[in-house]
Amino acid sequence: MESDTRQLLSELREDHRNMALVLNVLERTIETAASGADPDFELIDEIMRYMTVYPDAVHHPKEDIVYAELKKQRPDLADGLDDVPEDHQQIGELGSKLRDDVEAVVAGAAVRRQQFILDALKYVGRLRSHMAWEETDLFTRVDTMIGEDPHAVDVDEFLHIKDPVFELEVEAGFRRLMSGLQID
Ligand SMILES: [Fe+2]
Ligand SMILES: [Fe+2]
Repeated sequence: MESDTRQLLSELREDHRNMALVLNVLERTIETAASGADPDFELIDEIMRYMTVYPDAVHHPKEDIVYAELKKQRPDLADGLDDVPEDHQQIGELGSKLRDDVEAVVAGAAVRRQQFILDALKYVGRLRSHMAWEETDLFTRVDTMIGEDPHAVDVDEFLHIKDPVFELEVEAGFRRLMSGLQID
């Protein structure tokens, strides 16, 4: 049976696969906006709401705890870990900025469409490179720690919080996002 820590790490990897799909949908809306047409702003609103209630509120805090444990138990593998909480915070801030842009565009500020495109590209790029760093580097360090001690991280405090889009029943507020994902 998988240790709790191993289970937690596979949840983090699955979150990344899901976030990558959502970012693809967001990228399509950027392409629409860049072509001069109006993207589906309700869809973008759902995407950013998803990012707030799951990746920002659940995924990143879980990682912060795993990395804190890695730093404590394996200082030899802790290179660069100090930057992660700030990275997570900045991703959250880029997300808030993007939500503000969307609100402004919906409210009729045409001049903000270009800002939306720039901020959305920044958000997608930043989150993708953050996830790539974690997958190719940080997660493999956590694998090393778990390989030596499968119970290295006490995950009892993590109640398994359901992903509102990818797990079982889709919550009513994310229907557009769900149909957007099915196009992929
Ligand atoms: Fe992260
Ligand atoms: Fe992550």
